[in-house]
Formats: sequence, structure tokens, C-alpha cells
Amino acid sequence: MSPITAASASLNSITLTRPDDWHLHLRDDAVLASVLPHTAKQFARAIVMPNLKPPVTTTAAALAYRERIIAALPEGMRFEPLMTLYLTNNTTPDEIRRARDSGLIHAVKLYPAGATTNSDAGVTDLRLCYPTLDVMQQCGMPLLVHGEVTDPAIDLFDREAVFIDQVMVPLRNDLPELKVVFEHITTKHAADYVSSASGPIAATITAHHLLYNRNAIFLGGIRPHYYCLPVLKRESHRLALVKAATSGNPRFFLGTDSAPHSKGAKEHACGCAGCYTALHAMELYAEAFDQAGALEKLEGFASLFGPSFYQLPVNSGQITLQRQDWTLPMELPLGNSTVVPLNAGETLRWKAV
Ligand code: NCD
Ligand code: ZN
Repeated sequence: MSPITAASASLNSITLTRPDDWHLHLRDDAVLASVLPHTAKQFARAIVMPNLKPPVTTTAAALAYRERIIAALPEGMRFEPLMTLYLTNNTTPDEIRRARDSGLIHAVKLYPAGATTNSDAGVTDLRLCYPTLDVMQQCGMPLLVHGEVTDPAIDLFDREAVFIDQVMVPLRNDLPELKVVFEHITTKHAADYVSSASGPIAATITAHHLLYNRNAIFLGGIRPHYYCLPVLKRESHRLALVKAATSGNPRFFLGTDSAPHSKGAKEHACGCAGCYTALHAMELYAEAFDQAGALEKLEGFASLFGPSFYQLPVNSGQITLQRQDWTLPMELPLGNSTVVPLNAGETLRWKAV
């Protein structure tokens, strides 16, 4: 671990190029209207996940979803949704060409069937998708990977590491020029793989995986708001993620994976996976980088490396984070229900101003 540097320890305020969120769940309809302002306040753009019900599998559906997002944006707020397609066994090469030609669809998401929330339509055998992936490779369309195997015989905590060997390495051997983002990595295995692999590979890291280990799910009782997929891992993995995020390696960039579920769907006998962090995402990342004595590395991670991987311009405008205590609400409106944000009722030490 790097010691706290004098420069970052004395910082009480930090101004960054306006950041982007490279992995976000916005949902639809009334829920979309509730959550979108939180993201738009902090981020200029976000890669919008396609796991709606039904999933966003076509260019036409993605463009219609984009229109609904833009319509839900409050007057005076600026935000650009970067759309994605949900890869299925039946996604055709032509669909990829249509997506690319639209200029508004920036990636295709691979959910192994059954891996997480709304992933039932996901891919059952990646080899079925090879003609489609080949076109993606040719036209530079990134594949965003939920990197967990779904075999129930594999221990839940090992599913990311096993995915690297069973799926990621063979896939990238077969399609070495395919741009791949290993989404929301949670293990040292994934951080090491992404640092050392050759070719166009990157990874997103959530704020909650930088701040918490799996003890958080069980602290004094079961805490459903800390349950997400891939699940939080042990402390040694968290430390490896912090090291990767604060390394200055442009392969690692910000993706909140903010995933709203109603309070009732989380506080349930079979609670949904997903942490809601859109309200306070940059504050959480600032806390994680500050704890590591690496605030000066936050701008690259949050604002520069993502655009470079996606070949998009860096944003104009800035965001300022101040060392200032503030307390999160216990609940926020979510359509006709409520959502409990991560850290509900807790006091944070950084505030976006
Ligand atoms: C996400 C969701 O709720 O859509 N949940 C989560 O725990 N991260 C799905 C996902 O990204 O895996
Ligand atoms: Zn997600």
C-alpha cells in the first residue's frame, strides 16, 4: 500500500474533468425518471445497460430506449446516454452493423444466461455468437462482459476467477482484436488478468467494490443493500482492486453499476442483487481514492481513461468534490416506491458541489 502522500492528505477540494459512468442501470418508465437526475448531476455520459424486461436486443429498441431517456431528463440538465445491445444466441452480424451505423450504440453486453438480474435471455454458448463477435471485432464495437460462470457447482465466490480460465482466455485467443471490457471486476484474479493480458482489454470497477469487502453483507445481521453481483469478495481482493484503480493504468476506469431495486425487492426473503449509488457515486470514489492516498489518480480513472478506450472525446466542464460531511437520506423516491441508497443514513466525508 502506498503511504498517504502530503499532497493528497492536505487536499480539501479536488476539481476534475467532468466524469462518465461506464456501467449504469437506468431501468425504464417511472423508475428511470426517478434515478436519471442523480446520474446526470454527476456524469456527462453513461454506458446504459440493456437488461430491461424484455432486454434491449435490437438497434431499433436501443434507439427507442435512448429517446425515453432523453425525454426523462429534467429541463436544463445535460446528459448523453451511450446505448448498448444485449447479446443473445440470436444476435445477427447485421444487427451489429446497424448498431454501428446508428452512431449511438457504443457496445454490446454479454450476460451469461442466468448470471444476474434480467439475464435469462443471455448467451448459453459463446461459440454460437462467433460470427457476430467477429463483426464486432472488425468494426471496433466493444464487448462488455459480465464475467461470471453460471454453473451452480462452482462456488459463488469463485465464479469470476473460473470465468477467466473457462471463457475470457479462450474468447480472447479466438478473437484477439475484439475490444473487451471486463465489467465490474471484483477479484485480484481479474485485476491481474487485465493488467497483464495483451490486446484491447479494459475493466470497470465500482465504488462499492473499492470500499467494502464481503464482511459488509453480514455486519451484525444480513444487510441486503450490500448484496450485488458479482458479490463482494474478501479483503485481499478489495485491496487488489484499489491498487488497480489507483495505479494510473488506463485499462481501469469508472463504472458504478448503480442498480436500483425497490426497498421491498431488496429487503425480501429472496432479495434482488444490486447497489444504488447513483446519488453519491463520485463521493464514494473520492473516499476510496482518498483512503488510498491517491486522489491525484482519480481524474484519469473517472474522466480520461474511459473516453480513450471508447474512442470518444474527453468531456468539457468540470466537477468539484469537497471534503465536507453530509448525511445520506434513508430512502429516495423510485417510481411509485422507494429505493434505499447504499450508505443510507450514513455520513460521507466528500461532497460534490
Ligand atoms: C444488476 C441489476 O440489478 O440489473 N445487479 C447487480 O447486482 N449488479 C445486474 C448486473 O449488473 O449484474
Ligand atoms: Zn450492472
